[in-house]
Amino acid sequence: MRLSVIGCGYVGLVTGACLAEAGHEVVCTDIDGERIAKLNAGGVPIYEHHLDQILASAHKAGKISYTADAGQAIRSGDAIFICVGTPPKDSGEADLSAIDNVARQIAAEAKSPKLVVEKSTVPARTGLELSRALAAYSKKSDVKFRVASNPEFLREGTAVADFFHPDRIVVGVEDPSSAAELREIYRPILERSFRCPVHNGTCPPGRKAEFLVTTINSAELIKHASNSFLALKISYANVIADLCEKIGANVEEVTHAMGLDARIGGQFLKAGLGYGGFCFPKDVQAFIHLSASVGVDFDILKATERVNKQRIDRFFEKIRQALWVVKGKRVAVLGLAFKANTDDIRFAPALEVVKRLLEEGAVVHATDPEGMPRTKALFPQVHYHEDAYQALQDADAALVCTEWDVFRKLDWDRAGKLMARKLVIDGRNLYMPQGMREKGFEYYSFGRD
Ligand code: UGA
Repeated sequence: MRLSVIGCGYVGLVTGACLAEAGHEVVCTDIDGERIAKLNAGGVPIYEHHLDQILASAHKAGKISYTADAGQAIRSGDAIFICVGTPPKDSGEADLSAIDNVARQIAAEAKSPKLVVEKSTVPARTGLELSRALAAYSKKSDVKFRVASNPEFLREGTAVADFFHPDRIVVGVEDPSSAAELREIYRPILERSFRCPVHNGTCPPGRKAEFLVTTINSAELIKHASNSFLALKISYANVIADLCEKIGANVEEVTHAMGLDARIGGQFLKAGLGYGGFCFPKDVQAFIHLSASVGVDFDILKATERVNKQRIDRFFEKIRQALWVVKGKRVAVLGLAFKANTDDIRFAPALEVVKRLLEEGAVVHATDPEGMPRTKALFPQVHYHEDAYQALQDADAALVCTEWDVFRKLDWDRAGKLMARKLVIDGRNLYMPQGMREKGFEYYSFGRD
């Protein structure tokens, strides 16, 4: 099928690349001309595992193209995926102005009927507004639009694998023909009839994705409800970790046992510095805002948010307790990205840690496999190192902020010889407390002795 993707950020680029790899003809557009130029030159503007490989193969097969001309992209597709940003306003409410702009463009440029699919994360009822906007902006033409919601459940870092092996594909529609069209778009994935780039074409047998057809409002709510529930799980685990510290229990023993109950599940129960990124913080806020706007007080989500913000305070309590005076101390920050396997630093807990360290007068040396270029622009006063051991040289403390595998595998015997003081404060519970102490380290983590 011929598809258009508007917005070449994380969601748009992964969606476009994967749909092209699955066999469709995809035209991508973005208001950022530089981004389009880079893509046309064979570059990849974001770091995402497997993305470079599938963009290259889709490009070679002539399945994907990029244009800065939104009109051309809009006219070329039978279905148009809207993948633009919905950042939070100061109030926490999602800013939908980019969606509105795209609606105006689609209405102005389309010459034939289109299925307009919202993939951007939006509050419930946005689809209805989008329908109204398309009708209002296209009053002078007789082009008909159908609107659908198709929320994405892609995690940064594993987005390509998530796209090809989803648990569920949710489509919120107004009419059966839209559901049928979306089913056809996702058929290669539902039937696994594509050459999977993640597993070199031989996917392990696994559960097939469920294709769920719902109303547009439900589809929109499913996305917010899912992300908020995962955020709630993390905050729950973090409170358990605080409790474990007071009581003398081990959070990993507790959450592991909890997770074995199939009704609870073991994922997203990892305690530490809390959640960050461009999804959970803004989606929780937007969901609280949406609920309040219809008179529903989503108190548990407010608590989720509060607990998450307090993680940085808890980390600083540990830092102060261990270091006593922070001013003038040389600290190595291991990890800047909001999680491992991404270069994304948006709302990363590590950045809040760096900000506070600088405010308190620490000398900050930082390292991250992918997150440094973006962080440099925000904190030019930090000393950046490609190599973790260089960051640890002469450090009074190592602060672990992101769960990268390279940090998990660090040779702490070697690092200990380089550091001024053998002190590790681990915000991601990467190491065994006993093992670190046997190596002669003062070691602090979350919810474990
Ligand atoms: C999240 C969801 O997992 C996706 O399903 C969703 O599609 C996406 O948001 C989105 O809305 O676009 P993502 O933001 O990439 O994906 O990150 P996650 O892997 O969910 O992690 C979020 C944060 O929670 C990270 O900072 C991570 O370090 C933290 N986390 C995760 C914990 O602190 N503990 C855990 O047990 C798990």
